[in-house]
Amino acid sequence: MSAAASDAPIGVFDSGLGGLTVVRELMRQLPSERLIYVGDTARVPYGPKSPETICRYSREIAEYLLRERVKALVVACNTATAVALPALRVACPVPVIGVVDPGARSAAAASRGRGIGVIGTAGTIASGAYERAIRTLAPATRVIAQACPLFVPLVEEGWLDGDVARLVARHYLEPLAASGIDTLVLGCTHYPLLAPVIGDVMGDGVRLIDSAAAAADATRTLLEREGLRRESLTGAPPPTHRFLATDAPERFLAGARRFLDAAVERVEVLPLG
Ligand code: DGL
Repeated sequence: MSAAASDAPIGVFDSGLGGLTVVRELMRQLPSERLIYVGDTARVPYGPKSPETICRYSREIAEYLLRERVKALVVACNTATAVALPALRVACPVPVIGVVDPGARSAAAASRGRGIGVIGTAGTIASGAYERAIRTLAPATRVIAQACPLFVPLVEEGWLDGDVARLVARHYLEPLAASGIDTLVLGCTHYPLLAPVIGDVMGDGVRLIDSAAAAADATRTLLEREGLRRESLTGAPPPTHRFLATDAPERFLAGARRFLDAAVERVEVLPLG
């Protein structure tokens, strides 16, 4: 690609707010890149939907981002990565990065051999994508997976601590905590916001893996390899980012500020769904 191509933005999407945990890491690791983020708030949650529906939603968002001439696509949603990544890679003429393989790599590197837990949406857990990715890297590893469908609504509502979040976390996680695993993958981009509550149930001996940092790292490596990294010029103004929601932009804006503080000034509407 030409020098102008490296100036193009990176497209990022999720079903709602959760992918902003990946945006936060992209901003930290790639501070001169411009980002366009789509949160599919009209159709969140993706977790309980069928693979066909999630693939269709993901393709529609990817088509929009390609029309905006993104140079790479980051699927900042574990559910969409787990079921739609191969189809997106075939359909998109730009590199497509998911969150599952980077998260699995971090977990395999962190584990001390007593087993890895994976928590995610019903769709992610049913796909078996994390088990496959972890077993490819470390075939003898014990992997225990658990769907936690109420975590996404808790995060979208901003109920990040308090009695309800604690009760729900205990309900899903106590069997995992009792299983003796040493590492737990937060296999949904919404879950890092619940990390304090999750960590309390799991205890100090369990390392929590957030795939956002690993996905941002994979994006940086890929851009460098493909010669697509945007140059950072001394004295240049910070890059401008765009945020779009497929419904209720004011609500998205309020939520986005919980994830990214002042970085989100305005939310555009992308009418899909
Ligand atoms: N944040 C998404 C994920 O990583 C999807 C949550 C949902 O919409 O159910 O799986």
